[in-house]
Amino acid sequence: MTTVLLLAHPDFAASRANRALLAGLTDVPELEVAELYALYPDGKIDAAVERARLLRAGRLVLQFPLQWYATPPLLKYWQDAVLTPLFYLEPDVAASTAGLPVLAATTTGGPPASYQQGGMRIDELFAPLKATARKCSWLWQAPFAVHDVRNLDDAALSRAGAAYQSVVLAAPMLG
Ligand SMILES: Cc1cc2nc3c(=O)[nH]c(=O)nc-3n(C[C@H](O)[C@H](O)[C@H](O)COP(=O)(O)O)c2cc1C
Repeated sequence: MTTVLLLAHPDFAASRANRALLAGLTDVPELEVAELYALYPDGKIDAAVERARLLRAGRLVLQFPLQWYATPPLLKYWQDAVLTPLFYLEPDVAASTAGLPVLAATTTGGPPASYQQGGMRIDELFAPLKATARKCSWLWQAPFAVHDVRNLDDAALSRAGAAYQSVVLAAPMLG
């Protein structure tokens, strides 16, 4: 089954960390990457195209750089544009995605300590995504995060990419 990866990076051309993560996914079979900002530079998501993409997902990966402790806006808009009509107007179709494993993967400029004691943990910051997964009857996976990315050299980013692939492959498939 297809692993659908929604990449939401507002400036992917300038990306080091998210580019390295994506480059690590060499052995994920049937990987379908949708680079949302490239597909929809005007910010207008084609809900029918993205609905069909979601419906063929056996697992869903949401990858993005953390921006103001949240997803970049186009990924939030994807929820509004795709999930709202699917789950409220077509509940029978939406039900076919029940059990879909969903993995959120992020990169942060802040060091690990910012997301441990004294800071909010990544899984706490992702509470809205987790609530969305729960609402959709999806199978929320422990998030994957790479911190302090500006201070990681190419070798460290490459190792992060390999670790990312292991986490993606370990996530179950629907069905
Ligand atoms: C608008 C904006 C907001 C950001 N907010 C955060 C933040 O809340 N926490 C954090 O740790 N890093 C933050 N960063 C740093 C990014 O997470 C970091 O630049 C990104 O993960 C690098 O990934 P890339 O090499 O793929 O671009 C922010 C960066 C930008 C441009």
